[in-house]
Amino acid sequence: MTDLDLDDRTIVLNDAAGFEGMRAAGRLAAQVLDMLAAHVKPGVSTLALDRLAYDFVVAAGGVSATIFYRGYSHALCTSINHVICHGIPSHKPLQEGDIVNIDVTVVLNGWHGDTSRMYFAGEPPLKARRLVDLTYEAMMLGIEQAKPGNTVGDIGHAIQKLAEKNRLSVVRDFCGHGLGRRFHMAPNIVHAGRPGEGPELKPGMFFTIEPMLNLGRADARILDDGWTAVTRDRSLSAQFEHSIGITETGCEIFTLSPQGLNQPPYAA
Ligand code: MF3
Ligand code: CO
Ligand code: CO
Repeated sequence: MTDLDLDDRTIVLNDAAGFEGMRAAGRLAAQVLDMLAAHVKPGVSTLALDRLAYDFVVAAGGVSATIFYRGYSHALCTSINHVICHGIPSHKPLQEGDIVNIDVTVVLNGWHGDTSRMYFAGEPPLKARRLVDLTYEAMMLGIEQAKPGNTVGDIGHAIQKLAEKNRLSVVRDFCGHGLGRRFHMAPNIVHAGRPGEGPELKPGMFFTIEPMLNLGRADARILDDGWTAVTRDRSLSAQFEHSIGITETGCEIFTLSPQGLNQPPYAA
């Protein structure tokens, strides 16, 4: 039996070869997001960005994990303003002041790299930039909790605490997830929780942390396209995502930006 055949509740503990595989896959995913930074601006369509990403992944010898995934057919999710996640790339051009999350998942040599960042089209209003800054900070505080002996609840608690201190809400409908040879697997990573609750973190676990924070209420709704998740109150939403691996002493982030472009603004 391979770990591709495990039941949905088994948490895989990976070895050094797994870390090597995830390092390469994570780097490629991060390079896609780095490449896109110079292209995100008012007037550019998210479909044009999707094409750039697809070509980049293929040229690097990777495969898009999202094309053909449950009927999805793009290399990116592009989630603009009040879209929480799973926005579908379209011909509609980005507008001055938009904030957009770009989420990419690649497969390289059988391993998945899954990461997303926020981007600014032009200069978004201050409240939007504040939301984006705090969402990045929340993700990084969650990552700080990702170490052996802590639990999934410790991660969620750290994220929730920062969000609520700043009167932001945490989306509950979508979670982080284990990944590795498969795209989505155990454990579920909640972005709100109580310290000490949930599965204990152990060296060799691979998963994403991908909090979605809203300026308004947490409630989500899926549009008729079956994918696009939006805030019910149409308030702005932001998200960042890293893929990480638990080590003996803490964690390794597989999807750090090689160019240091981890959060906007990415400069002109
Ligand atoms: N990349 C997303 C995640 O973080 C999943 C996108 S699935 C898709 O898990 F089909 F919408 F692309
Ligand atoms: Co993910
Ligand atoms: Co993702």
